[in-house]
This record gives sequence, structure tokens and C-alpha cells, in this order.
Amino acid sequence: MAIRNIVKEGDPILNKVCRPVEKFDDRLITLLDDMYETMKNSEGVGLAGPQVGILRRLFVIDIGDGVIDFVNPKILKTSGVQEENEGCLSCPGEYGITRRPMYVTVEAYNRFGDRFTLNAEGLMAQAICHENDHLDGILFKEHVIRKTEEL
Ligand code: CO
Repeated sequence: MAIRNIVKEGDPILNKVCRPVEKFDDRLITLLDDMYETMKNSEGVGLAGPQVGILRRLFVIDIGDGVIDFVNPKILKTSGVQEENEGCLSCPGEYGITRRPMYVTVEAYNRFGDRFTLNAEGLMAQAICHENDHLDGILFKEHVIRKTEEL
């Protein structure tokens, strides 16, 4: 595994729409492992492809109970509202309260190409929405309703 460089706000790569992952191969597994190590190294809870310069639809999330790989994710359903503090490894030093769904149903593939469905709530739902936005070139700031000083 290797720590990759995290793309920072201002780099146009963060505003691009990502393409689907087409091949479930060793390169994908290495990428996901590297993304996990990069995220952990920066004490983040999520990291998306474009943040390491890869314009593919994938992200990793670990809110404290183990990493989950999301490849070609699709948010099927959302409900409720939560307003929580948020930041992004691509926007160091910037934080804010965002308004996001409290519940999210997402379908995705794991690193081996097996499809799964996850019903998430709270922080996990917040993280899924945040990372999924990265795949469409959207940063969390677009959802900020009030800036904060720290996480
Ligand atoms: Co982010």
C-alpha cells in the first residue's frame, strides 16, 4: 500500500464528473487499498477517487467500524434531514454545518465486483452523500449553511 497525494481545492480535477469503474482487477484493489491508507494517514472518514486524481466512480468510508469500499455507487433513496459539522481532506482548515439526508439507501459494488445495498443513517449517510458528491464534481461547501472553525 502507498499513501497518495491528496488533490486540494482549486485543482479543476475536483470539479469533474467521474466515469464508472469498468474493470474489477488488481489495479482497482491496489487503488482502494491506497485510498484507505491515504485517508487513515490524514485521519479522514472518507475519500473519493478524484481526491487522489482518479476520475472514476469509487470511494472508501470508515466511520470507525471498518472500511467499506463503494464502487459505482448509486443512491437509491434518501429521507429525513440532518445538520452536522463537516470538513473535507481536499479543503484543509475549512469546516461548516451542512444540511443532508438523515437516511440513505445506496447500492454499490465491492472490490470484487459483488453488488450490495446498504441502508445508512446519521454519520454514515452524511459521509456517503459527501463522497458521492465528489464523483459529480461537487464539494461539501455547496451544502454548508453555516461555517465553523473546526470539526
Ligand atoms: Co471530501
